[in-house]
Amino acid sequence: MDLEGNVALITGGGTGIGRGVAEYWVAHGGRVVVCGRREAPLQEVCEALGDAASHVCMDLARRGDAERTAEVVRERHGRLDTLVNNGGTFLLSPLVDSSDDAIEQVFRVNVIGLLALTRACVPLLIQSKGAVVNLSSVVAQGVLPGSIAYAGSKAAVEQITRCLAAELGPQGVRVNCVAPGLTATEMSTALRADPASVDQVIQDTPLGRIADPADVAPSVAYLASKEAAWVTGQILQASGGLLL
Ligand SMILES: NC(=O)c1ccc[n+]([C@@H]2O[C@H](COP(=O)([O-])OP(=O)(O)OC[C@H]3O[C@@H](n4cnc5c(N)ncnc54)[C@H](OP(=O)(O)O)[C@@H]3O)[C@@H](O)[C@H]2O)c1
Repeated sequence: MDLEGNVALITGGGTGIGRGVAEYWVAHGGRVVVCGRREAPLQEVCEALGDAASHVCMDLARRGDAERTAEVVRERHGRLDTLVNNGGTFLLSPLVDSSDDAIEQVFRVNVIGLLALTRACVPLLIQSKGAVVNLSSVVAQGVLPGSIAYAGSKAAVEQITRCLAAELGPQGVRVNCVAPGLTATEMSTALRADPASVDQVIQDTPLGRIADPADVAPSVAYLASKEAAWVTGQILQASGGLLL
């Protein structure tokens, strides 16, 4: 994948899938700004990736952080080719056990934060005729018991992908989405702690295993690349065929 000179802003780029995407980007000639709340993992990624990577601490749930982050990217690079809306938060809890605060945090980060950051980046993306790649999940379409708020937020991300593709297409900006299955990251620690659940996922996955972040990153890169120039508004399952 040729990402030469492609400047990407990757939310949640300090860990898991976001870090995998940042590594893939830099390995293929791109430059990245990784962001998230914790400075330590962001710094670690930047040290590993060298001059092509920098970071900004921000909270997707905090008003004003979206605009500040987009401004940092503009000051550092003068352009933005790809926004990877990867940062997210998980809640494993049936509705009756989920507090207002817990539900609100899921939607604040996964949906409202994504919308605010995307809105702040639109002028830069229009200038570069760039791309947005959102991260949803297989649970946006298939039911994982106990994931109701999270699954609802990811279903919103998928519809936002289609609506935004229609809104921004006329200005040359493409918007797509990658839906991973179970992937070995911090977020899935609780799910992976139950061997029976992991065995079930493996049995239900035609390719017969769970993913690493490196399995998901090339799908994100493809949707941002010139090779996908005629692709917009699409959800690409990167799940080993978990939902067929
Ligand atoms: N792992 C899976 O099985 C799986 C499956 C399907 C979809 N996904 C999706 O893949 C994406 C990446 O998740 P992951 O699996 O790589 O898990 P992860 O390693 O836990 O990554 C989540 C990232 O989001 C950042 N984040 C969380 N809350 C934030 C906030 N309020 N503001 C800014 N950044 C925030 C975290 O950084 P800080 O904590 O430092 O802020 C972290 O780097 C998510 O959208 C997730 O829903 C994951």
